[in-house]
Amino acid sequence: MCGIVGYVGDQPAEGVIIEGLRRMDYRGYDSAGIAVLVPGESSLELRKKAGKLANLDKILAEEPLPAATTGIGHTRWATHGGPTDANAHPHLGEERRVAVVHNGIIENFAELRAELESAGHHLHSETDTEIAAHLLELEVAGGVDLTAAMERVCSRLEGAFTFVAVDAADPERIVGARRNSPLVVGLGEGENFLGSDVAAFIEHTREALEIDQDKVVTITRSGVSVTNFDGTPSEGRRYHVDWDLSAAQKDGFDWFMRKEIFEQPRAVADALLGRRGLDGKLALDEMRLSDDELREIDKIIIIAAGTSFYAGMVAKYAIEHWCRIPVEVELSSEFRYRDPIVDNGTLVVAISQSGETADTLQAIRHARIQRSKVLAICNTNGSTIPRESDAVIYTHAGPEIGVASTKGYVTQLVACYLLALYLAQVKGTRFGDEITQVVAQLEGMPAAIEQVLGQADDIYALAREYTEAPTFLFLGRHAGYPVALEGALKLKELAYRHAEGFAAGELKHGPIALVEDGLPVLCIVPPQGRDQLHDKMLSGIQEVRARGARTIVLAEAGDERVTPFADVLFRLPKVPVLLQPLVAVVPLQLFACELATAMGHDVDQPRNLAKSVTVE
Ligand code: M6R
Repeated sequence: MCGIVGYVGDQPAEGVIIEGLRRMDYRGYDSAGIAVLVPGESSLELRKKAGKLANLDKILAEEPLPAATTGIGHTRWATHGGPTDANAHPHLGEERRVAVVHNGIIENFAELRAELESAGHHLHSETDTEIAAHLLELEVAGGVDLTAAMERVCSRLEGAFTFVAVDAADPERIVGARRNSPLVVGLGEGENFLGSDVAAFIEHTREALEIDQDKVVTITRSGVSVTNFDGTPSEGRRYHVDWDLSAAQKDGFDWFMRKEIFEQPRAVADALLGRRGLDGKLALDEMRLSDDELREIDKIIIIAAGTSFYAGMVAKYAIEHWCRIPVEVELSSEFRYRDPIVDNGTLVVAISQSGETADTLQAIRHARIQRSKVLAICNTNGSTIPRESDAVIYTHAGPEIGVASTKGYVTQLVACYLLALYLAQVKGTRFGDEITQVVAQLEGMPAAIEQVLGQADDIYALAREYTEAPTFLFLGRHAGYPVALEGALKLKELAYRHAEGFAAGELKHGPIALVEDGLPVLCIVPPQGRDQLHDKMLSGIQEVRARGARTIVLAEAGDERVTPFADVLFRLPKVPVLLQPLVAVVPLQLFACELATAMGHDVDQPRNLAKSVTVE
C-alpha cells in the first residue's frame, strides 16, 4: 500500500525515481509524485498528479524538473483524503524546505493538525502526511539535522508509518523511518536507495539492508546509518536479493498477472527445491523451531487474509489429515478482536505473500504476546512478518507484481503441504515412505500445471463469452471448496462482477435460490478415488443444472461420469485430492484474467486495490 522511493547518488534522480515508481505502482495507483533537490540552490522542486503514473509522466513532459541527483517519489493508495492532486505526495512543510512521502496512517494526526493550525500553519491537503512535513520542518528550522528531526517527530506519532524525507538545505541526505510499514535500503556504489520494497531499486543493486521497527535510516551517496527513535545507534541486516530485473518485467505478456500464471510450474518447482536432506527426509532449514518444540504443539491456528486465507483453508485439510493436529483457520483481521484461546502449545501459522499485511502482522504480535510460537509462510525476504516470527518457510515464487495473487497462492500451497508433511515426520503420524511418496507427487505438480496451461486458449475463448454475465457461482467440496472461493475472489477483483464460492453441499441450504436460467456455475470436481466425495459433488452439479444453470466443470482426465452433467468440460490432470487445488485453480485464474481483459479492465491494477495492504 503506497510505494516509496528515495535516491541519492550521481545518476539523474528523476529517471531512477520514476522507474522505481513504475515497478512499484502495483502498491497503489491513486496518485504519483516526485520531489528533487535543486543542486546549489537550497530549494526543491515538486511534481505530483492524481491518477496513475502516466498522468505524472505527462506533467513531467510539460514542466520538466531541473537536473538533480537527490530526490524522493511516491505512488499512493488513498487512506486520508481522496485521490486528488492536493492529496498526492510528496507533501511540503510551511516554508517548502522539507518534502516527505508516507505510507501508513498517523492515528493522532487530528490533534497534531489542530496544534499546527493554531500555531498559524497552512495545510493544503486532507492527508495525515502533511503534518509530518510541517513538524519535520519545524525541527530542522530549530537547528537540528533531518535525522534528529525525524527521530523527534516519529517519537510523537502514533499509528503505522514509513516516511522518506528530504531537506532542501541538506541536499546530500535522505532520511527514512519506519513503524509497522515496510522500508528497505538498496546499497549501491557511490549511491544509495530507499524503497518500500526492493523492486524500487532492483535495476541498480541487489544488495539490500533490512530495517527493523521504530528505526530511522539516513542515506547519503557514500553511507547508510541507522538509529532508534531516541537517537541511539542501531543497525540493519544486510542481504542479497535472489531475483533480478528480468523477474520484474512483462516478457512479452500483456499483463504481469498472465505472466505470473504461466510462471507457476517454475515457481512450484522452486518452492520445492532443496527440501530433502541427504537421508531423503524433509529438511526445512528455515524452520528454526526444534523437533521438541514442534512435538509440544497441540493446536494450530492459521491466520491470513484474502487469497492467503484460502491457501490456509487447504492447509487445514492437509495438516489434520497427515498430522492429526486440530487446525483452525481464521481471517487475520478478526483474530485478535475475538479473544482467541492461544498458549505456548499453539502454533500460529501466518500466511502472507507480501509479509507486510497489517492485519496479519498485528495478529501475530497478539499471538506472540500470548506466548504461542509463530511460523510465517511468506514470499518476501526481508519483510516484517517473517522477521517477527519464530520460524519461516519462504515460498520462493519470485516477485509477484499483479495485484491478484496467482503464483503467490500456489507456492503458499506447496509451503503448507511441506509444513504438514514436516510435522507428520516430526510427530511420527505418517511413515517415512508415505511422506516420500507425497513429496514425489508434489514434484510432479509443475508438469501437471503445465498440462493445464496447455488448455489456456480454450479457457480464454470461454471467458470471452461472459463479458455480459452479471453473476457467477463457484462450487467445490473438500479441498475444492477453498478453490471455489479463490476462483470467485479472482473474478470479483478483476472483472468487478458478483461472484460467490460455495461448498457444494451447502447449496441446498439457501444459495440454490440464486440459480436461474443460464447462470454460469463453475464446478470443481474432486478426483474419482474419493468416491463419496465425487458422487456428492455430482449431485450438486445436477441440482444446479436442473434449475437452468450452465455448468462449467473442471474434472480429472478419465472421469466420464461427470460428462452428462457438464455444459462445458475442462480436464484436469489426475492428482491426489489434497493436491488438486494446485491444478484446479489455474483455469480459474486464466478465466478471470481473460474475462477482465475482454471487459477492458486493468488486470494488473484493479480499481480500489493495492498489492500489499499495510493498513488495518
Ligand atoms: O500479502 P498477503 O498474502 O498477506 O495479502 C493478502 C491479501 O491481501 C491478498 O491475498 C489479496 O486478497 C489478493 N489481492 C488476492 O488476489
